[in-house]
Amino acid sequence: MRYKSKDLFIDGLKFESLAKKFATPLYCYSLKKIKENIKNFKQHFKRINPIYCFSIKANSNTKLLNEIKKLGFGADVVSIGELMKALKSGFKSNKIVFSGVGKTAKEISFAIDKKILLINTESKGEILEIEKIAKNKKKLVNIGIRLNPNTDAKTLKQISTGKKENKFGVSEKIFLELIELVKRSKFLNLKCLSVHIGSQILDHRPYERMLNVIQKVINKSKFNFEYVDLGGGMGIDYEKNNKNLNLRKYATNIEKFLKKNNCKIIFEPGRSIIANAGHLVSEVIYIKEGEKKNFVIVDAAMNDLMRPALYNAYHRVIPAKKNNQKSQKPYEFVGPICESTDKFSTVKKFQKLKKKDLIVICDVGAYGMSLSSNYNLRLKPAEILINGSKVKIINKRQTLRDIV
Ligand code: LLP
Repeated sequence: MRYKSKDLFIDGLKFESLAKKFATPLYCYSLKKIKENIKNFKQHFKRINPIYCFSIKANSNTKLLNEIKKLGFGADVVSIGELMKALKSGFKSNKIVFSGVGKTAKEISFAIDKKILLINTESKGEILEIEKIAKNKKKLVNIGIRLNPNTDAKTLKQISTGKKENKFGVSEKIFLELIELVKRSKFLNLKCLSVHIGSQILDHRPYERMLNVIQKVINKSKFNFEYVDLGGGMGIDYEKNNKNLNLRKYATNIEKFLKKNNCKIIFEPGRSIIANAGHLVSEVIYIKEGEKKNFVIVDAAMNDLMRPALYNAYHRVIPAKKNNQKSQKPYEFVGPICESTDKFSTVKKFQKLKKKDLIVICDVGAYGMSLSSNYNLRLKPAEILINGSKVKIINKRQTLRDIV
C-alpha cells in the first residue's frame, strides 16, 4: 500500500475506486503480498525444509486457501468444517493436520476416513476415543500428542496457549504416560510431538525456551518422533515500529535442535502469512462531536473486525485520500453497533474527516473476516482479491435476503 500524490493505492489500484465499485465495508487482499510473505518464510527456513500447514482459522476464504495451497502449503484445521474447506480448496489429505482440544467422534471419524497426515491429540480422553473409532474401522491412525511446555509466549494473555493454566496440550508428566499408552495400541501410530504456545509472538526467546522443553521431554521419553510440529504464532508488525520477530534467530535455534533430533519440522503459521495482505475499507457515516474527542462513526463495525473489541488489539487506521487539514480534537473510530467496545482506535492527531470520506483499517487479513459475525443483524462484508491489475470478488457481500 502506498500513497501516490494524495490517494492511497494497493498494488497500483486506488482504494477510492475499489470502494466505489464494490461498496464498503470491503476486505481487500493482495496476492502479491501473500506471495511475498510466503517467500520470506521459505527463505528463512530453507535449511530446515519444514512442512508448512496454513492455519485455516486465520482466514478460510476458499480462493485464498487455494492460492496458498498452490504455493506449496498444507493446512492446519480445527474442525470438520475447516477440514472440509481445506479439501474443497485443493489441499492434499496427506498435508493436513488436525489440532484442537475437543474433536468429536464425528470429526475424528471423518478425519480417519480422509487419511490426513496427523491428528494432533490433546488429552487421554481424546486418544481413547480415536483408538475406539480406529479399532471399529480396523485402521492404523497417525497421531501426535500436544505438549503444554508451560512457556510464557510474552504476548496478549487472551492468545497465550502454552502455560500450564491454559486448556491446551498436556503436561510433561502426562505426555510421558500417554506415550506408553499409545505404544500399547494396535490402532494408533505415534508420529508427532506438537506444541503451539500462542499467537502474535514478537520475541524469539519464548520459542527458544519452548525448544529446550521439547528437547528435555524427548530425551526423557527416548521416543523417536518422525515429526515435531512447532505450531504457528509468528507475530507481525501491527504498530509499524519495526519490532519484528527475529525469524533468523528462531531458524537458527531450530537448526540446532535438528542436529540432535532426526525429525521433520511442521509449521502451522496463520497470521504471518496473511495478516498484512488484507485491509478493510470503510466509509465515514457521521462525525459526532464529543467533549474531549470526536467520534468518527464508520460503516465497518466489530461484527466485521472483532479483534479490537475482543483483545483491545491495535490496527492502524489511515485515510484513503490525504488532505492538509487537521482534526481539532482526537478522533475515536467507532462502528454503529450497540456496544461500547465497538471501536477501532483512538488517534490524537488525524486529518480532518467528513461524511463519506474513506478510511482503511490495516493488516486485517488474519482473524478479520474469519471472526466476523452477523451481530446486530449486520451483513457480512464482501472480500476482493487483487492479483496484479486484476480484481476479483472472492466472497460476495451478504444481502438482507440472506439474513432476514
Ligand atoms: N496452530 C494452532 C494449534 C493454533 O491454535 C493457532 C492459532 C495457529 C496454529 C496459528 O497461529 P498464528 O500463526 O496465526 O498465530 N483470534 C486471535 C488469534 C487466535 C489464534 C488461535 N490459534 C487474534 O485475532 O489475534
